[in-house]
Amino acid sequence: MCGIVGYVGKNPVLDILLDGLEQLEYRGYDSSGIAVKCKDNINVYKAVGKLKNLREELTPHAYEISKSTSGIGHIRWATHGAPTVVNAHPHTCNCGNLVVVHNGIIENYVQLKAKLEARGCVFRSQTDTETVAHLIALKYGETKDLTKAVALATKEVEGAYALEVMHNDEPDKLVITKRNAPLIIGIGEDGYYAASDIPAFIKHTNKAIYLSDNQIATLTPQSLKIQDENGAEITPKIEQLPWEPVALSKMGYKHYMLKEIHEQPDVIRNILVGKLHTSDSPVKLDEVKLTKENLKDLTRIQVIACGTSLHAAMIGKYLIEDLCSIPVDVEASSEYIYRKTVTDSKTLVIGVSQSGETADTLTAIKQAKEKGSHILIITNRPDSAMAREADSLLSVNAGIEVSVAATKSYIAQLTSFYLLALYMAEIKGTTPADVLKKLKSEMLILPQKIEQILANKEHIQKCARKYSSTRDFIYIARGINYPTALEGALKLKEISYINATGYPAGELKHGPIAMLDEIMPVLSILMKGSVYEKILSNSEEARARNAQMIALTNSDDSKLENLFDFIIHVPDVDEMLSPILAIVPLQLIAYYIAEFLGKDVDQPRNLAKSVTVE
Ligand code: AGP
Repeated sequence: MCGIVGYVGKNPVLDILLDGLEQLEYRGYDSSGIAVKCKDNINVYKAVGKLKNLREELTPHAYEISKSTSGIGHIRWATHGAPTVVNAHPHTCNCGNLVVVHNGIIENYVQLKAKLEARGCVFRSQTDTETVAHLIALKYGETKDLTKAVALATKEVEGAYALEVMHNDEPDKLVITKRNAPLIIGIGEDGYYAASDIPAFIKHTNKAIYLSDNQIATLTPQSLKIQDENGAEITPKIEQLPWEPVALSKMGYKHYMLKEIHEQPDVIRNILVGKLHTSDSPVKLDEVKLTKENLKDLTRIQVIACGTSLHAAMIGKYLIEDLCSIPVDVEASSEYIYRKTVTDSKTLVIGVSQSGETADTLTAIKQAKEKGSHILIITNRPDSAMAREADSLLSVNAGIEVSVAATKSYIAQLTSFYLLALYMAEIKGTTPADVLKKLKSEMLILPQKIEQILANKEHIQKCARKYSSTRDFIYIARGINYPTALEGALKLKEISYINATGYPAGELKHGPIAMLDEIMPVLSILMKGSVYEKILSNSEEARARNAQMIALTNSDDSKLENLFDFIIHVPDVDEMLSPILAIVPLQLIAYYIAEFLGKDVDQPRNLAKSVTVE
């Protein structure tokens, strides 16, 4: 859950490392550090907090580093040891000649540390990573070859790692390796880059190599050599990345989150291209590799995900059960992996993940795969570890999502679930054609409807201002929008730190209603359809306890004026598609409240975009 970046080449390294780390800040941001090869030594600089603190720390040293052309950098999300300067990476061996940055977790670090201390290594930090610095340094003492030292050391290491290592005695050489953590090499005109993710170097090159587990790469300004774990040289596959550096700019918006919310209409349009042309043509999903017979044989579907992706999965359950008549279970990945599940070859297992890296979901998927299930992955990162486990890969193509709070990737996951449910329903013949046709024709105009909501954002902003001083917030809904209530509450919690909870509206009277008083805002998601009247009565129950009532609705029912203190209207839409519209005002409410409160919208405290630890 950290970000690492490295460079060896002809260009000054400082800006390459700092800009690279800035692009990786989504992976963690509690401390950072760099190591650069200066005249006689490798110098290490670290700071606690955001990257700007490291930039300040470096200001007085800018001249001495200005000629350096090789180095490594790290941005941290603390797992072992508090976010302090001592625990920040890079870590060094006893003499400081060897420097390491690491993403992942060394699982046997306690045993390794005991062995290393017995051999005279002196530990300064509380991190698992420092064991690797000492271990590689000892191997270097024996071999005097950095690549061999890394190869020997990693044989003794258990766990997940992406490592970048430099040694003072082998200047301008960077040795990197990985196991169960991402590491990508960028091939530039004037040198080589190595990073946890593409944004770290995309502005310099779009040619890349995805390193595989246990491979070791040795990079110098003029050469690149990749070996497998037995030392045999490998001819790497160089990929042309379809990425534009502009994707990483805020495009004039104050925050990435606001920009990403505004990108949602185009995200849906992009997904539909080639998959849904008109309401008369069948949904085309060549990515689904299940045959007609396989689909008909399925006895159940399990969907596993975390956080926002879990909420998309919950809506997927409503859709698939309704349209395809297949039983669907949805489970948080972290729960799935520690119990005996009934998963077999007649179960389709769907993993949903923006990043495709989330450790809990990845483990769950691997477990399901071992049991013989077909694995379908819905992800925004077709280059991710999860994508590599997929039998069928639905890439949601939302573009890079920088803000920690997921917005456009959620809309993209929902759109993919709609397509999948329609596709399976058409094959299985479980829903009348006219119902499917109506849904398809409405799907095609969803982007315009979201644009209408965005055009009305000042009204939503007023609502956010009105309730921005609240300490608690309740969201209620029923049916297919219950997950929307959960997602709206999650958005508010994670960026404003307000205690927000989503409830099925019918559950209010079974306990939560006791919390209601004249200062508690209750937002009802009141979409026309099968449960509209029911939510209306649940809202009346809340009003009777004097709660502050907010309606999010596509109804022009005049009764609402008396019942609610604030009403947000969204365009009319079929109940089944309403989650795609209903979430947009909730994203905006969360955004504007956090902004009024002066919170760090794109990088909320204690969170990271990619959660690669269980
Ligand atoms: C979303 O706003 C959150 N930051 C978080 O819940 C996220 O959805 C979760 O960590 C799962 O991530 P993934 O989709 O990359 O697997």
